[in-house]
Amino acid sequence: MAQRAGVKIECRGITKSFTVQSDVLHVLSDICLDVHENEFLVILGPGQGGKTTLLNIIGGLMAPDAGEVRIDGRDMYGPSTDRGIVFQQYALFPWKTVEDNVAFGLAMKGVGRDERLAVAHRYIDLVGLGGFEKAYPAQLSGGMKQRVGIARAYTVNPDILLMDEPFGALDAQTRYAMEKDVLAIWQKEQRTVVFVTNNIEEAIYLGDRVVVMSAMPGKVKSSYAITTPKPRNYTDPEFLEMRKRISNDTDLVL
Ligand SMILES: Nc1ncnc2c1ncn2[C@@H]1O[C@H](COP(=O)(O)OP(=O)(O)OP(=O)(O)O)[C@@H](O)[C@H]1O
Ligand SMILES: [Mg+2]
Repeated sequence: MAQRAGVKIECRGITKSFTVQSDVLHVLSDICLDVHENEFLVILGPGQGGKTTLLNIIGGLMAPDAGEVRIDGRDMYGPSTDRGIVFQQYALFPWKTVEDNVAFGLAMKGVGRDERLAVAHRYIDLVGLGGFEKAYPAQLSGGMKQRVGIARAYTVNPDILLMDEPFGALDAQTRYAMEKDVLAIWQKEQRTVVFVTNNIEEAIYLGDRVVVMSAMPGKVKSSYAITTPKPRNYTDPEFLEMRKRISNDTDLVL
């Protein structure tokens, strides 16, 4: 099938179940979703609603039972450096320094040490970790570790960034700061982003569009275009109005 103009990622009929001790858990049911080129798409859904499963399928880390994912109009098989993933858990190598963690994807691609460290340093600076290149993950706070994860995802220069509740484990203050920074980086770097969260404010702050999922099984419930210019203000009347509209429509406890 030909690529539809401006559509970067197409999910068609994604369905997934897990069998745990003969119990079948229907996690995703017929998920259809288009993500546009350079769009910041937020998937908002409740805990255990299949968000990570969906992101893993889009990232090519897991195969669906039915349905397909197309990238740039082509069927997609397996993981690839065109999609960078920021995981829900930090997933850093504890024995590697910040710079070697960030440069890891480039090392896997066979890029020489000097070149990959030069690229890594650029993104370490961009996420605000300049000066911590030689630190080890154990010496960093949660927010700093997640910055390393974001820098690592950007370093392989992916077209698409998949971010799985990257700020879920952070305190509220750090979370606001990280949201601001991720937005600034996105405005500078322009990539297609799929960002998963269970936090409604975060969704409205970041998203060009917010797709609301329901759980058990995970389905796409509704989709909201958010057109107010970024950066947005949490207390603007338009922001609060959108919060009200979306919260009336979710299974989240708000
Ligand atoms: N590999 C697996 N084997 C069996 N069950 C799984 C597997 N992966 C996920 N599940 C189950 O599928 C459901 C959805 O999990 P998933 O991690 O996709 O949800 P989530 O929306 O990301 O949750 P959270 O908000 O807690 O991160 C959960 O009930 C989970 O126990
Ligand atoms: Mg998850």
